[in-house]
Amino acid sequence: MKPAISANELTKWFGEGDLRTFAVREVSFEAYFGEILFIVGPSGSGKTTLLSMISGVLRPNSGTVAIDCVDIWKLTPDQIAEFRLNKVGFVFQDYHLFPRLTTAENVAIPLILKKQNWDESIKEAAHYLEIVGLKNKADLPPVKLSGGEQQRVALARALVSQPDLMIFDEPTASLDGDTGRRIMDFVKNNILTDKRCILIVTHDNRIFEYADRMMRMEDGKIVGIEQGRND
Ligand SMILES: Nc1ncnc2c1ncn2[C@@H]1O[C@H](COP(=O)(O)OP(=O)(O)O)[C@@H](O)[C@H]1O
Ligand SMILES: [Mg+2]
Repeated sequence: MKPAISANELTKWFGEGDLRTFAVREVSFEAYFGEILFIVGPSGSGKTTLLSMISGVLRPNSGTVAIDCVDIWKLTPDQIAEFRLNKVGFVFQDYHLFPRLTTAENVAIPLILKKQNWDESIKEAAHYLEIVGLKNKADLPPVKLSGGEQQRVALARALVSQPDLMIFDEPTASLDGDTGRRIMDFVKNNILTDKRCILIVTHDNRIFEYADRMMRMEDGKIVGIEQGRND
């Protein structure tokens, strides 16, 4: 099987000299199309830093990341920006929605960044809002939506680019258990395809049942990979 993600000896440190701390140390793993891979571990263990290097946001100090066999950190800055826009959908814990834009405008941002026409972008955004069950909220500002609904808007925004790679950093941390499970049901049934790979960082054990595999990090290292309880 061709891996969706192939990380090889990834290392990232912050600070220099005596102040240098290693956030991620020589981490290697593969993830495959069609799977939901969870990354779990205590706060400060390097999970977000690892996601950032895989999604083309943070350059590693050493090691390589291949996404669909493309070595992303060998690309030019323009190519990396294009990779982020077209290949990766990122959903943050605290949604990162723009309060002054409507829900539909928030979802349309990646399309507008791709220089698509405004009206077309809003129309396409409405389609993705329908997919996440929020079509009737398209013209509202995010503050009028519940936490679970805002998370679904963030999900729709990550989906508009039809990314190969969906990355969630603590997607359910600010949600109650039922809402968190509803989001995960939705991701599993509607977002996961055999051409997409989903990475989820979480310490929410209420959603562990959705993992195909679970990778555990401690102190910047992978300390175990287990099959999930999913199947
Ligand atoms: N921008 C940064 N500058 C300095 N240290 C950082 C930065 N980002 C993360 N770190 C440090 O790297 C380690 C791993 O952080 P992080 O990847 O955020 O862990 P996690 O997501 O598992 O909580 C922590 O010790 C954190 O303080
Ligand atoms: Mg984190």
